Amino acid sequence: MKALCFYEHGDVNVLQYTDVPGPEPAPGQVLVRVRACALNHLDIWVRRGWPGLKLEMPHWCGADVAGEVAELGEGVAGWEVGQPVVVEPGISTCEDEFTRCGEHSLSPGYCILGEHMRGGQAEYVAVPAVSLVPIPQDGGGERGQAAAWDFSDAAAPLLVSLTAWRMLIHRAKLEAGESVLVVGAGGGVNSMAIQIAKLAGATVYALTGTQEKMEKARELGADVVLNYREEPQWSKAIYKMTGRRGVDVVVDNVGQATLTQSMRAVARGGRIVIVGNTSGPKVEIDTRFIFGKQISLIGSTMGTRQDFRDVIDMIWAGRLQPVVDRVMPLSEGRAAFQILERGEQFGKIVLTP
Ligand SMILES: NC(=O)c1ccc[n+]([C@@H]2O[C@H](COP(=O)([O-])OP(=O)(O)OC[C@H]3O[C@@H](n4cnc5c(N)ncnc54)[C@H](OP(=O)(O)O)[C@@H]3O)[C@@H](O)[C@H]2O)c1
Repeated sequence: MKALCFYEHGDVNVLQYTDVPGPEPAPGQVLVRVRACALNHLDIWVRRGWPGLKLEMPHWCGADVAGEVAELGEGVAGWEVGQPVVVEPGISTCEDEFTRCGEHSLSPGYCILGEHMRGGQAEYVAVPAVSLVPIPQDGGGERGQAAAWDFSDAAAPLLVSLTAWRMLIHRAKLEAGESVLVVGAGGGVNSMAIQIAKLAGATVYALTGTQEKMEKARELGADVVLNYREEPQWSKAIYKMTGRRGVDVVVDNVGQATLTQSMRAVARGGRIVIVGNTSGPKVEIDTRFIFGKQISLIGSTMGTRQDFRDVIDMIWAGRLQPVVDRVMPLSEGRAAFQILERGEQFGKIVLTP
């Protein structure tokens, strides 16, 4: 089969669209014919590699898979060949104190499809049968009976909506009437975070880097949008706009470039929720902000299996919209990675084999 693979870690030039042996479904697994697979920033980190990351080469990424059941492994029942499905991107590989509480993403045995195991940037992927969720045949919710789900729309929101849901609802415990600042609106996680914060009844402030992205952030529901390039001291602007109070919750997965300002923009007693560090991991923190303003810095990763079902149901029902920037053939995956690395997209880039 064809895959967008790499034989060594490195920059975008290590990516090759080439033939690799196809996977066989192990007992308990299902072989899925991939019809669409969304890119995530995670794929850039995995391709570059990090100390201690040991992958069987060639490796290919891809956490967000929508496709059709192609073959059932031994012991699997309840699925039809040809059935349209999405795949839960988090995969649990052991039972421990966390998984027994349903907190799979806290477990050291928690893996992400395409991170520690080969993913969906290929024609086929073998995944545990328990990871499959059927795509509604009727289009679901507001899409009405006539419109079937497009595979690209189905793949786009999977990992990012799960992440944004847990970080805002369970970790930051966002409440109706609160205010949220989303630092960088155009990302996969953040384009879902804007929508989830609105759905939860919050007032949403968003930062982004271009006029076009500002418009898109407003269309997603952001109440106030600032351009961080035109307004580099955005924390001061947020402070003024909120009556010198700050916002209740800041979503900051940019890290090095922004966390200091996020600590200024958050209100006394507020929460900053962190799932990533797109601009770099190391930040010098003035701890006086933490105790003086009684700020909580809250980490979050992925979500529970039930979170995935909950958020996917809201997507099927049309209460959260997939944000697809563009759909490209898998064979043009190298160009797609370049677009993501330059941060040109708003929402998700989806690859189709
Ligand atoms: N822990 C987890 O479970 C988890 C899950 C998903 C992602 N992540 C991490 O979260 C981060 C985002 O992931 P993603 O897939 O959403 O990435 P992405 O689609 O590439 O988005 C990158 C984001 O960074 C913003 N950004 C970059 N530089 C900025 C700056 N100087 N100021 C403000 N915003 C800036 C962009 O905003 P604009 O486009 O508006 O400029 C955009 O929102 C990554 O680091 C990823 O590894 C973690």
